[in-house]
Amino acid sequence: MSTTYTLDTSTSRANPTPTPVRRLSVPAIAARKGKEPVVMLTAYTARFAQLFDPHCDMLLVGDSLGQVIYGLPSTVPVTVEMMINHGAAVVRGSYRSVVIVDLPFGSYEASPEQAFATASRILKETGAAGVKLEGGEAMAPTVRFLVERGIPVVGHVGLTPQAVNALGGYGARGKSEAERAKILRDAKAVCEAGAFALVIEGVVEPLAVEITNSVTAVTIGIGASAACDGQVLVSEDMLGLFDRVPRFVRRFYNLAENLDAAARAFAEAVRDRSFPGADNLYQIPAESLARKP
Ligand code: KIV
Repeated sequence: MSTTYTLDTSTSRANPTPTPVRRLSVPAIAARKGKEPVVMLTAYTARFAQLFDPHCDMLLVGDSLGQVIYGLPSTVPVTVEMMINHGAAVVRGSYRSVVIVDLPFGSYEASPEQAFATASRILKETGAAGVKLEGGEAMAPTVRFLVERGIPVVGHVGLTPQAVNALGGYGARGKSEAERAKILRDAKAVCEAGAFALVIEGVVEPLAVEITNSVTAVTIGIGASAACDGQVLVSEDMLGLFDRVPRFVRRFYNLAENLDAAARAFAEAVRDRSFPGADNLYQIPAESLARKP
């Protein structure tokens, strides 16, 4: 039984309180290969983590926070400090899910030693269970190095957004025979090196099926196949916060419309002075008024 901090949801000013809980473990997720689908969503804040946690098996503190939270043009400028701050918030806000934090671009590719320094710092400072890193055959020695030293690793192949400058965009991968063969080799190399799970992003469907059938790691699809061992989406995409809905996304809500309506209603209430109303105000207690000389 581990002790974590559960947010008191009664108000936005409430304090975290320690609660004993049992989290899912990395081996429990690994054992789901070919069984009940693994549910994963991205989360970057404590409150979103808390709301998603009862429904998810894994929460991913993705470096997509670069675009989603910070308005950056890609994941390339994301820093280790950003990942640590948001990773720690997500761990504090969740009690059940396995929390995985992305290693940001430039923090792991140079050598296995560099990857270990970054990954161990992230685990120490966030309390997350493991890290995710992008790349295939070239990263396999790094994956092995981390796994042999006790750091659970999720791989990420296919469309790897940190390589956007080399790939030239975010188009689906695996349309040519050569590209499919390369991505399959990447997937096998990362899994043989010890990754317990593998995100397969933006590939043609038959390739995602072939990878899922070829590796022992749990595959988690995003723009891949329903046959993967689990699915992940960027939560703000599935919540309908953005105008464009890429093919691989399904909008499960239209949060942007609801936020717009709420902000408009607040603005109107401020402008016509109907907010704050009598219910929202504090008055001097009657007994204190009575005590006046
Ligand atoms: O950064 C992220 O959110 C991701 C998902 C798209 C899998 O890597």
